[in-house]
Amino acid sequence: MISAKARVCGLMGCPVEHSLSPLMHNFFAQETGVDFAYVPFKVEEDRVEDAVRGAYALNLAGMNVTVPHKQRVIPYMKDLDAAARAIGAVNTLVREKGGYKGYNTDAPGLLRAMRDADMDIAGKDWLLIGAGGAAKAAAFVLGNEKAASVVVVNRSADRARALAEDMNRQFQRNFMSAMSLEDYRTLPDKEWQAVQTTSVGMYPDVQKAPVEDRGFYRNIRNAIDVIYTPARTRFMDLVEEAGGKAVNGLNMLIYQGVEAFELWNPEKKVPREVIEKARQLMREALEGQSR
Ligand code: ATR
Repeated sequence: MISAKARVCGLMGCPVEHSLSPLMHNFFAQETGVDFAYVPFKVEEDRVEDAVRGAYALNLAGMNVTVPHKQRVIPYMKDLDAAARAIGAVNTLVREKGGYKGYNTDAPGLLRAMRDADMDIAGKDWLLIGAGGAAKAAAFVLGNEKAASVVVVNRSADRARALAEDMNRQFQRNFMSAMSLEDYRTLPDKEWQAVQTTSVGMYPDVQKAPVEDRGFYRNIRNAIDVIYTPARTRFMDLVEEAGGKAVNGLNMLIYQGVEAFELWNPEKKVPREVIEKARQLMREALEGQSR
């Protein structure tokens, strides 16, 4: 039950209609017994400042921020956490005295998903496929967790270069280099781990992968695709057909939510069995959406 004392949070983005976050957060609240409500807010691009100030005025405990506002909210934050600052994107607002602090829970969410999949980061050589928003969060995780090297492989080589330069500067070590997607054949012949962050292969274009050539997948041991619709992407199939292991992005989605929920409700931890149940619930919701 939501009482008059409920802690209220929401999601701002455009669109928000297909988001699973309301389902997930309200489920966490119900299962952990917190007096909490989470609602979707469709916010147009030119109303982001109004929305942040309005949320604060309405005493909202926090917000999630999704596409296309993750960068646009930054000027209205009172403070930023280290990940949000490094990535240049905020997906979670936490109420503090005088304003919201902006967090990025995509990074810790990805890290938890990678740990669940037994992916070692430190000392390994990584391929980061894509150089957009999701890639930035992944690059931050790989840098922070001491990947030996990262090659950013992207359709637009300029964007890959910009990301690599930015991260090398931030971490003050030359661990990241850039490559155009079409040059993948020049990659050194050695074992790679991979994070797939492009939108290629996402529903409804399920027959696509960022690279079609099976040779590309031969050296990939462990991979995570941040896509979760479909649950098995063609990228994952190609990795596994070549003998590697691959997981999708559903756990990342869930863990970024768990991290946000725990920031808003610091007295609660979302127990493992609740996370398991949420995963099942979200799988079913996703199947319903793509039917
Ligand atoms: P997100 O925030 O989800 O990462 P984004 O910032 O728009 O979204 O980034 C999308 C990523 O998918 C980019 O790396 C993009 O490549 P470009 O930087 O060259 O645009 C990649 N991408 C999208 N469509 C693609 C396609 N058809 N082939 C290859 N890469 C593609």
